[in-house]
Amino acid sequence: MAGYRLPVATYRDPRLRIGRTELIPRPGCALEELLMTEILVLYYSRGGSTAELARQICRGIESVSGASAKLRTVPAVSAESEGPAKRVPASGAPYATYEDLRLADGLVLGSPTRFGNMAAPLKYFLDGTAGLWVSGELVGKPAGVFTATQTIHGGQETTLLSMMIPLLHHGMYIVGIPYTELALSETRSGGTPYGASHVVNGSNDSGLSEHEKTLAQALGRRVAILAEKLKER
Ligand SMILES: Cc1cc2nc3c(=O)[nH]c(=O)nc-3n(C[C@H](O)[C@H](O)[C@H](O)COP(=O)(O)O)c2cc1C
Repeated sequence: MAGYRLPVATYRDPRLRIGRTELIPRPGCALEELLMTEILVLYYSRGGSTAELARQICRGIESVSGASAKLRTVPAVSAESEGPAKRVPASGAPYATYEDLRLADGLVLGSPTRFGNMAAPLKYFLDGTAGLWVSGELVGKPAGVFTATQTIHGGQETTLLSMMIPLLHHGMYIVGIPYTELALSETRSGGTPYGASHVVNGSNDSGLSEHEKTLAQALGRRVAILAEKLKER
């Protein structure tokens, strides 16, 4: 349809889906792989903090039996006067395609805070999902969100909420982090009931705290568990 952009880069998915529920394997794809519950962890990161959260979320997903994580990023956006993004990233996770979103059983979406909001590259990618919205492909799938900020009151919650809004338009079930996760009460940095987060400690940032890691993994686990339950129905 008009406005439904082609992906920046394509990576063959071992699975093929016909319609919403029927799957046929590509040659060489094991049946177990086909039956896995696949959660797409889709993020943008410039300095690496959001990327580190994404990796912890993948760990949480993969701690759930039968679930697998697919880690994908999005390219930077640039003005017409600047050079376009390379079609394939120089390092790290591959770029996401809209097919990745369509095939996923659940989604965990992450962005650094930009003035209390999600970063433009992720918003740009989401603005290209009109085709998925029209076909209702994401309706009824679970989703969670995560972010990184420079300061503790720099807009973690608003950024997390900003990422939830398009997901609600897509009809996804939003998954948060409950206070039964003890790290949520104990953390002195990131980690919120709205989603996982990290507070960057200036140029001395030593990476995610143990609480931030625990909560990121909890979010991944919760999305994976719900995706499996929804698939059983
Ligand atoms: C344009 C711009 C706006 C930013 N706005 C905020 C902000 O509102 N609050 C905040 O705490 N940090 C803000 N930051 C800092 C980033 O959110 C922070 O460095 C983030 O952790 C980087 O994540 P990354 O390492 O995944 O790129 C901003 C950074 C940029 C470049």
